[in-house]
Parts: sequence; structure tokens; C-alpha cells
Amino acid sequence: MNSINQKIQNHYHKDGLFEDILNRLSQMNIDLNFVQRADIASVDEFHVRGAAVSKELAKSVDLIGKSVLDIGCGVGGPCRMLADEFNCTAIGIDLSSEFIRTATELSKLVNLEDKTSFIQADATNLPFDDETFDIVWTQHVQMNISEKKQFYSEIKRVLKKGGYFLYYDIFKTSNNPINYPMPWASDESLSFLFNSTEMNEILDKLDFTNYQTVDQTKAGLKFIEELIKKLQTNGPPKLGLNVLMKESTPIKIKNAYTHLKMGDLKLESGVFKK
Ligand SMILES: C[S@@+](CC[C@H](N)C(=O)[O-])C[C@H]1O[C@@H](n2cnc3c(N)ncnc32)[C@H](O)[C@@H]1O
Repeated sequence: MNSINQKIQNHYHKDGLFEDILNRLSQMNIDLNFVQRADIASVDEFHVRGAAVSKELAKSVDLIGKSVLDIGCGVGGPCRMLADEFNCTAIGIDLSSEFIRTATELSKLVNLEDKTSFIQADATNLPFDDETFDIVWTQHVQMNISEKKQFYSEIKRVLKKGGYFLYYDIFKTSNNPINYPMPWASDESLSFLFNSTEMNEILDKLDFTNYQTVDQTKAGLKFIEELIKKLQTNGPPKLGLNVLMKESTPIKIKNAYTHLKMGDLKLESGVFKK
């Protein structure tokens, strides 16, 4: 693993993450023999608007029963949602060995290990044959990747002809300096923000056809405002994204909110067809 990817893995790393989640579930009086997806929903989708936005994205194409690759899958919530609610066979890859271990264990915990699997790998060098998947999916990952062309070329390579690439991401909308830490990067050296026009140009050169683009910024800001209110009233939840963002959760949320609100960043989802 190169040194930047090692630093990115360290940024996301939390020792004993799966056991920490189990402890928290026990403290919430949830029987560990009967854990439901809903019980872990507050922690297993690591992006603004959690499962709600993933379901919206999933409904933008017909993906029922399809094979999906989730690039930068985190602890696997989106893969489990796609398997459980859309009957997909979902494979997630991620740089973080601890996220992959946690994703695998969480799938066993909620009995979705047959339809989901997780592999440690780098998004820019996918361990799959050409034209393997019906759907390639990625949420809040490319900000950690400097080699954008390689990232999108790999997506094209593993996608079947006629398949869909679905993304939900954070893009730069100004040249103003960005304050860190952010949820995806402790400092600027781990962050490779670019704008969505640059992404569109890369995808256009790869012969993808744009199918849908949705500005998600307003909905994302509303979600973060409600989250900040809840944090101020109730303090950190027993189980939430604070478990993944660790001690610096408040400043990461504040920085992301401020730059989205000021128009330096935007949230966007979309669909491209190969
Ligand atoms: C903000 S989290 C999003 C996780 C997941 N997509 C979700 O929405 O729940 C970003 C994830 O991207 C992963 N990541 C960053 N760079 C990567 C790379 N080069 N290859 C694979 N995964 C990467 C990180 O390890 C982390 O799990």
C-alpha cells in the first residue's frame, strides 16, 4: 500500500470497531442474537443522509436482483440495504482492513452474509475481471483518490456493457481554501476534491452516457442541521456516525456544514450508463 493510502487507512481506522458496535448494541438492550438491520442503520452508512439517500439512488435505475460492486464500501450498510431490499448480490471493496472485517461481521450479525461479501482492495486497482458487474456504486469515496482517471477507468472496466454507474459524492464548487479535519480527511494531504464538471469530462471521454444528475446539497444541509440540533440537545448518540468519526466528530461536521452552506462544496448524486 502506498503511503497516502496508508495515511487514509489510518484516518478511518478504529481498533476493535466491530466489538465497539456490539458493546454499544448491548448497552442499548438489543439482544445480540436478534440484531436487525434497523438496529445498526445509524452507524453503517457513512455519508450525509444515510440510508435515505441510498434508497433514492437505488430507485433511480432498475437494479432488482442485479450484481453490484460498492467501491469504498465502508462498513457495508449500502451493500446490505441493496441485498435486503433490492435482492442484489453485493460485493464491497475498501482500503480499510478494519472496515472490511467489520462489514463482514455485521453482515453475519444480520444474516446477510450469503448476499454480501467484502474484500480489502484499492479502488484504482480492482481485483475483478472486465465486465463483471451490472451496477457499480460509490458514495463519498473519490475525495480520497488523486488518480481520478484511473478510478473512473476501473469503474468502466468492471461494469458490463449497458450497466449503470451510480454515485453520490462531494464536489468542489469554489477555489476557497477548505478547513480540515473533514469526515474524509484529517488534513489537506488526504483530500483530492475536484468539481463535477471535471468528473463529467472524464466520464464523457470514457464513453459513458449521462442518465441523471441530482443536486443533493439542500437536502444534505437540512440533514446536517437536524443532526447538529440533536447533538446539542442530547449529546453524542450511543450508536451513530460519531462511532466512525471518533473524537473529532463535532469539528468534522462543523467544517463540512460550513463549506456546504458557503457554497464551496456541493453534494451530488447521479447515474451514468456504459
Ligand atoms: C466516507 S467513507 C464512505 C463509506 C461508504 N461508501 C458509505 O457511504 O457508507 C469513505 C470510504 O472510502 C474508502 N476509501 C478511500 N480511498 C479508497 C481507495 N483508494 N480504495 C478503496 N477504498 C477507499 C475509505 O476507507 C472509507 O471507507
